Amino acid sequence: MMGRMIYLDNNATTQMAPEVIRAISEAEPVVYGNASSMHTFGREAQKLVEEARANVAELLDCQSSEITFTSGASESNNTVFMIAKSIIDKKGSGRIVTTTIEHPSIIETVKYLRKQGIQVDQAPVSADGRVKMDELEKLMGPDVVLVSVMTGNNETGAIQPIAEISKMAHACGAMMHTDATQAIGKMQVSCKDWDLDYLSCSGHKFYGPKGVGVMYAKK
Ligand SMILES: Cc1ncc(COP(=O)(O)O)c(C=O)c1O
Repeated sequence: MMGRMIYLDNNATTQMAPEVIRAISEAEPVVYGNASSMHTFGREAQKLVEEARANVAELLDCQSSEITFTSGASESNNTVFMIAKSIIDKKGSGRIVTTTIEHPSIIETVKYLRKQGIQVDQAPVSADGRVKMDELEKLMGPDVVLVSVMTGNNETGAIQPIAEISKMAHACGAMMHTDATQAIGKMQVSCKDWDLDYLSCSGHKFYGPKGVGVMYAKK
């Protein structure tokens, strides 16, 4: 017979918090309208969505209008890279700079974008998992459209200096994105203080439900 199990894989996913389960089970049976519908049922649902949006905005230190709900951080990451692709396509030139240690939802998107003819450069990391800042700086230039560096790594836990990288990106006129999926709930994250253009995160990494992600986009 198996003994008592202890779950330690919280970077992969977390158990929903009791207050999350309570909030969902109280809302689901009664507030079932489509949040885009104009009738009472729709407006009730919309009120809850807007409350959730305001809570997330407070957590990320940004405005509610800058929060878009997605199906997860993978979709948020994909969307940000596709926005960069569409800017590059429109301009007819441009480059994306990221790192070698991003989540597969970015690494696989990088492979796809390269097949589409988009140049994506990846900065390496040192033995402690931190981005080699001198290498990253060498990759900066006026043709860079997007710089994307994760806040915290899902395997090593290495934290990157996002505010500093954001300054570097903006100095060459690029947009700054961070995948903060592993950082939310574990450290202070501020879209304002880090001067971010985009951020991705996911509910199920910090005691929320699966299938709910967030994309912050600066207005
Ligand atoms: C750093 C990081 N980014 C993105 C994701 C993808 O999140 P989701 O499952 O919400 O798509 C994960 C999940 O493993 C992650 O650890």
